Amino acid sequence: MIGFGSSNVISTPSNSVVFSGLQPTGHLQIGNYFGAVQNFVKLQTQYECYYAIVDYHAITVEHDPEELRRNTLEMGFDLLACGLDPKQCVLFVQSQVPEHTELAWILSAVTSYGDLQRMTQFKEKGETQEFVSCGLFTYPVLQAADILAYKASKVPVGEDQVQHIELTRRIARRFNARFGETFPEPDVLLTAALRLMSLADPERKMSKSLGPKHYIALNESEESIREKIKTAVTDVGPRTETKEKSPGVANLFLLLKLSASQEIYDQFESDYARGVLKYEPLKRAVADCLVKTLEPIRARKAQLKESEVREILHEGARTARAVARQTLAEVRERIGVGKLI
Ligand code: TYM
Repeated sequence: MIGFGSSNVISTPSNSVVFSGLQPTGHLQIGNYFGAVQNFVKLQTQYECYYAIVDYHAITVEHDPEELRRNTLEMGFDLLACGLDPKQCVLFVQSQVPEHTELAWILSAVTSYGDLQRMTQFKEKGETQEFVSCGLFTYPVLQAADILAYKASKVPVGEDQVQHIELTRRIARRFNARFGETFPEPDVLLTAALRLMSLADPERKMSKSLGPKHYIALNESEESIREKIKTAVTDVGPRTETKEKSPGVANLFLLLKLSASQEIYDQFESDYARGVLKYEPLKRAVADCLVKTLEPIRARKAQLKESEVREILHEGARTARAVARQTLAEVRERIGVGKLI
């Protein structure tokens, strides 16, 4: 049983804690939304859910402090606008619960150096940085601590995070083997949008770091959404003889699947199968459906007040901290570093 706020108490069966996090890198983009956040919204009615804006992860690459502060709050607006309900989930900022970083240090002692070296995100991100920080290398340990501080057993994420969750499982297993059964080994929850691809370069994952023409932000204007879909890359390289869609076309179909009715989707699939698909109507349908899907999010966001968002995040941190503290007390006891005063 866990209370959310003073008046709303929900009861959940054991072994059904959900945790996920997002980096505060400005406005959410539709890859975050369809790959993860849409799932967060569904899960909040079924499980005990903790969702964190992970600002400590964002400092592992060079950043501007003012921008980070702004983006952290902005992410709070975006997540609430997407439908996260503080009566049904705990939404908070990672740095307001210092137990995450304490647990990360403890877990680093049961994390294999070799495992960290194999993390593809570290390799990819490291290549783009002039200065490769030690924090970027140990980033997945903090991610494991985020999850395990709540003994979460389910982690809704996009496909790019699967390797980090597998590492979390190994960390939990090693901790349990050394110090006694403490943590569950969490499972990944994926959506249909495992990996939404860039519009301008559909062989790469949609991400803000690629630049504006590659992604659509949740708060993007209708005009801009239509323009980006209109100019989205469809064919890359020569067409093969197989019936397989090119990456760009497959990405447009995925967007259609995520935002259109089954009927509209089936119609375009059938056109494709019969070899009569035209890109222009496909793109128009994708843009129409995306605009329609994002409109209520924009409307909800416009209604939110800054004071309200701040209060929700503070309250969320208070609730989260009470849980994380208990885990830390148990963990300290198990590893022999004394009790929490
Ligand atoms: P981040 O902030 O990069 O992304 C947030 C979530 O969005 C998903 N996502 C996508 N899904 C499908 N297609 C895409 N193009 C796409 N782009 C992003 C991500 O998979 C993620 O679920 N390390 C994490 C943050 C984190 C975390 C955690 C996640 C920190 N601690 C604990 C889960 C549990 C990250 O950088 O996500």
